[in-house]
This record gives sequence, structure tokens and C-alpha cells, in this order.
Amino acid sequence: MAHLGLIGIGVMGSAFAQNLADNGHTVSLMDRDPARAAEVAAEGADLAGELIGCTEAEDFVASLPQPRSVIVLVPSGKPLDAVIDTLIPLLAPGDLIADLGNSYYKETELRVEKCEAAGLMFLGMGISGGAEGARHGPAIMAGGSRASWDRVKGPLQDASAKFEDDPCCDWYGPGGAGHFIKMLHNGIEYADMQMIAEVYGVFRDAYQMSPAEIGDVFEAWNDGPLSSYLIEIASEVSKANDPETGKAMLDIILDRAGQKGTGRWSVIEGLHLGAPVSMMQAAVEARNVSALKDDRAARAARWGAAGNPLAFEAVPKARAIQILGDALLVAKICAYDQGFGVLRRASEAFGWDLDLAAISRGWRAGCIIRSVLLDDISTAFEEAPNTDLVMSPHFEQYLSGRVEALQSGVAMCTALGLEVPTLYAAFSSFNAMRLETGTANMIQALRDRFGAHTFERIDRPGESVNGPWHE
Ligand code: 6PG
Repeated sequence: MAHLGLIGIGVMGSAFAQNLADNGHTVSLMDRDPARAAEVAAEGADLAGELIGCTEAEDFVASLPQPRSVIVLVPSGKPLDAVIDTLIPLLAPGDLIADLGNSYYKETELRVEKCEAAGLMFLGMGISGGAEGARHGPAIMAGGSRASWDRVKGPLQDASAKFEDDPCCDWYGPGGAGHFIKMLHNGIEYADMQMIAEVYGVFRDAYQMSPAEIGDVFEAWNDGPLSSYLIEIASEVSKANDPETGKAMLDIILDRAGQKGTGRWSVIEGLHLGAPVSMMQAAVEARNVSALKDDRAARAARWGAAGNPLAFEAVPKARAIQILGDALLVAKICAYDQGFGVLRRASEAFGWDLDLAAISRGWRAGCIIRSVLLDDISTAFEEAPNTDLVMSPHFEQYLSGRVEALQSGVAMCTALGLEVPTLYAAFSSFNAMRLETGTANMIQALRDRFGAHTFERIDRPGESVNGPWHE
């Protein structure tokens, strides 16, 4: 059994320490709040392993057997760097620091360099599954040196979620690879959640369905190919009532979404890599717009509320549920396709040699985006490691006959005057990527006309020429 250190025992940290102890491991604990370590250690008295509360960094380090392994679960950025700076002079060569926060991958790479220069090892690991996952089995995505991973792999895999006995906790590549993968997990999470919110909005605003009735639809969908943690909890939150007022909980919650940055980073990195990220971008944009509540109210007063149906034959509710369910499935596959597309391009650009099948296997349990589709995705990547998911024969069963539903769903929402930006992004991106003859010839002509940037002729490939407007 291992003996690890854990710094940062807030909600996630204390849950993860208890999880490790549950699995028989000993954990020395330390927190900014000195009373907290003793509290959490006392709460863990009944667990199989031991929790040791420490108040001073020196005692914390001295309590650990060498070579030491210290997990840090504090907010990324300055708080994390302060912890690392405290640890470096106290640790000995060969000791390991593992950051389990949502860190930006480029900062992780700098921390790897800094710690290695001090003779230490550094792992950047993403964790997913919220507090419940941290306590009972999260998904963990590690990056850094292989040797540092081998040091902590055992206890982390013991504590992680399992999919049919397979731990959802692995090492995927060097440097910032683990945090990059976690970032993309969150990018997909943003798209997934926004699509669910959009469909909820159509049911609420066009079909006047109650939250509980919408919850029933999500519940039914959770029995089919849309089955996923997010659909499951969408049903749960739709059906919940506010204990104070007795009203549906969703009707009490302000429509202004928070965000901490991982979705936005995913979009920015995807754009840098030249990868399509329109769905994550639409989802981030929707959260940004949600924050502009006062401006939205002012514009609604000036221009009238959105949702003015054009004259079109209304789609009956049962049919709309079917169309939107199929549209959601296609769009969900498109979101995964875009997410894995970014990972594939990052792997090539950064020389990470990422195993997309292993990553999708690791997302089958424990993490927020876990879904039955991820099992199919891992099979698709096992069969063809660098496939585009929408091209994989494995996804034909889901896409055939449903691509049209995405168009119908988006057309229906447009006619209803309802906003479905992420579903629309899926539709638009799916179409753009199957448009053999696009319109970039016009862009090239304009670029050449105003800036002599040259273009390639279709009848003389490989040659850069100017147009007659320059003769
Ligand atoms: C997870 C979550 C987790 C956290 C997000 C939320 O995988 O467990 O993604 O990491 O909930 O950071 O991010 P936002 O606050 O940006 O929605």
C-alpha cells in the first residue's frame, strides 16, 4: 500500500483523500487552513487506510516515505505555484509533485521544466467527475514523464472509476498532454451541456412543456444511444422541485452561466491548430451571451422577445421529440468528432503520439462526459486509430437516417425563431465538411485582387498565379 501526500483538502481534495484511504492507502494531508487537515483526518477514522493531518509543510514532508509523492489539488495559477515554491526546497531529488487541478497545459509544461531543473518529477493530471467522482471513482488523465507516472499509477488506478474492471485512469503523453486532454474533455462537456440546454429551450418555449415533462423525455432518451451521465442528470434536475417555493427548480435558477476557462481554452487551442471547433465555440459564446442578462432584457424590450414563429406548419410534439432526439445524437457525435480532431492535431503538432482509443476508453466511466457512445468511439479508434468519427463505419448505425433529422431540427428551430447555436454549428460543420466544391475560390480571388496573394488554378495544380486583374 502506498503512502502519498495531498495538499489542498477542499471539497475535491478531501473526497479524493478519503477515496485513496478507502482503497487502503495512507495519505498525509495539508491545507492552507491548518484546522482542516485535522478535521478531514478525523472524518477518515473508519477507512481502510490512514489519513494523517499536518499543519506545517516541514512535518508534512517529513511524514512521507522517500521517494515522496505529493498530489496537489489547489486552484491553478498562483495558488498552485505558491505550493510548488514551498515544496521545492523541502523535497529531495527524485521526489514527485502531481498537480490534479484544471491547469492550462502550457503552464504545466513550464512547471515540468521548473521541477525537473530542481531534480524533482512533475505530473500534470486532469481529474473529472466532480466531488462525487473524487470520492467514489474519478477519471484521471495524466501527462508527464513515464517514470513519474509509474510511481503513482497503482494508488491512482485503485481510486479511479472502472469500466468493466478497466481503470479510467492512465498516462497519455509527456509534458502538458494530460491537462490538454482534460481541457478537451471540458470543451466537449461545454458542447454537450449547451445542446441539452438548447433542446430543453425548444420544449419549454415552443411546446410549453413543463420541466417535469421535459425530464421524462430525457429519462426516455437515457435508455437509448443518447444514454450518458449528462442526459441522466438533465432528467434529474428537470424533475426537481424547489423545497422553498415548491416550484420546479429550473424555473427558479437564473439563466446566467458561469465558466472557469477550460471551454474557452479548448476553442483557442483548436483554432491555433486549424481544427474545426465550431460546436465548442458556440457553447462558449452561449455562456458569454447568457452573462449579458441586462443587455438581453434591453434588446428584448426594443426588438421584441426572440421566438416569433414564421408561418409554417407546426411540427406535432411527439414528432418534434423524435426529430430533436435524433438531431441531438448526430450533433453529439459531431462534438466528439471535433474534440478528438483537436486531440489528433495536437498529437501531431506537439509529437505526443496520443492514443485516441486509450483516451476514449478512459472516458467511459467516472468523467462528466461519460456516455455509451464512448464505448463505440473507443472501438472505432481501435479499428482505425486516426479515423474521423463521422467517417467510421462504426458510426453508420447512428448517423444513417439521422443526419436529415439534424437539418429538420435546425430548420424547425429557425422557423420557430429559437436559438440553437450549438445544434446549428453541428449542422453547418457537418455540411461544410461534405461540400466538395466550396466557395473559397471567391476568397482567393479577392485576396489576390487586393493584395496579389496569388491562387492555384484548378487546371494547373501546384502553381501560384495572379489573376487577370493584375495584367
Ligand atoms: C469535471 C468538470 C470539472 C468542473 C469544470 C466546470 O470534469 O469534473 O469539468 O472539471 O466542473 O471545471 O467548468 P466550468 O466552471 O467552466 O463550467
